[in-house]
Amino acid sequence: MRAIVVRRFGGPEVLESVEVPVPEPGPGQVRIRVAAAAVNPVDLATRTGILTEVGVIPPREVLGLGWDVAGGVDAVGEVGGAEIGGPGRRQPSARPAGRRPPFQVGDAVIGLRDRIATPLGAYAEQIVLDASAVALAPTGMSAVEAATLPLNALTAAQALDLAETDGTVLVTGAAGAVGGYAVSLAHARKRRVVAVASEADEALVRGFGADDFVPRGPALGDRVRALVPDGVDAALDTALLGLDALDAVRGGGEFVAFAAGAAPIPLRGIRVRNVWIRADGERLAELAGTLPPRVAGVLPLTRAAEAHERLAAAGLRGRLVLTP
Ligand SMILES: NC(=O)c1ccc[n+]([C@@H]2O[C@H](COP(=O)([O-])OP(=O)(O)OC[C@H]3O[C@@H](n4cnc5c(N)ncnc54)[C@H](OP(=O)(O)O)[C@@H]3O)[C@@H](O)[C@H]2O)c1
Repeated sequence: MRAIVVRRFGGPEVLESVEVPVPEPGPGQVRIRVAAAAVNPVDLATRTGILTEVGVIPPREVLGLGWDVAGGVDAVGEVGGAEIGGPGRRQPSARPAGRRPPFQVGDAVIGLRDRIATPLGAYAEQIVLDASAVALAPTGMSAVEAATLPLNALTAAQALDLAETDGTVLVTGAAGAVGGYAVSLAHARKRRVVAVASEADEALVRGFGADDFVPRGPALGDRVRALVPDGVDAALDTALLGLDALDAVRGGGEFVAFAAGAAPIPLRGIRVRNVWIRADGERLAELAGTLPPRVAGVLPLTRAAEAHERLAAAGLRGRLVLTP
């Protein structure tokens, strides 16, 4: 099968389409025939080598790309020596106690590959994932749409969990893929949401559920405090503004950073933590039923380099999606 990998770091031109053996699912895993794979900032950071430089990815000869996948299960692994699932049949008795039900061949699913240092990712014709990282695809959504959900929905939800607040939440980068979902989820939890984005995106982020809008730009802390005089209770800094966003948080509040090196010094007793996405099929199933997909465009897998160029150029609203 074909897969897109990197064997040296650099610009989009280092993306290589290679022929690799079809991966086989092990116990508790499923193989998915990829119908759609979204392109995320983490793929660019993998390709350029930034994530290896900062120690997030150990040096590897071959790195796969792509975290988000939508497609159909085409093989299931074995549990205790007995094959589970298969075309047109389920074997509930084969399910080990305490594990979520296995998927069966033909199921339409979405999933998240959160093992970043592996030689194959979702930019491929087939991918093997742990069943615990997979959810049934939401009904009424195309594979292209569904592929935009896993990474960004789970990151937004897990970041909001980290923030542990009932109060006011600041979201920077609110028009972005993670930021938009963070606004929606905070709004659904009945938090007051202050969104920071380009002026042109005000209607978009208010549509996600923002109560207040602050245009991006200098003196962010002062402009947020004009609306929330003591400062917000928590900030989700998806735009990686660091200290500028921390300035808007009240003393003793919460700050969630989204990248290695993007966490500011924890001034004024603010608890600063990084969110690190983890796959969670059950949570993903819940989120997929509530959040809208955001597709910026669709390209064939062979044009992954062009997708990387477009994402790097900024200004996309939603995700570009690759189709093998
Ligand atoms: N730690 C984790 O587990 C995890 C998981 C997922 C994502 N992330 C990271 O989270 C970040 C956001 O990801 P994403 O997928 O949401 O990216 P995205 O879709 O590109 O969104 C980023 C948003 O931030 C906006 N922005 C940039 N500079 C800004 C500024 N100064 N003020 C306000 N908004 C600004 C961008 O606007 P323009 O496009 O107009 O520039 C864009 O709307 C990325 O760095 C990504 O790598 C981390």
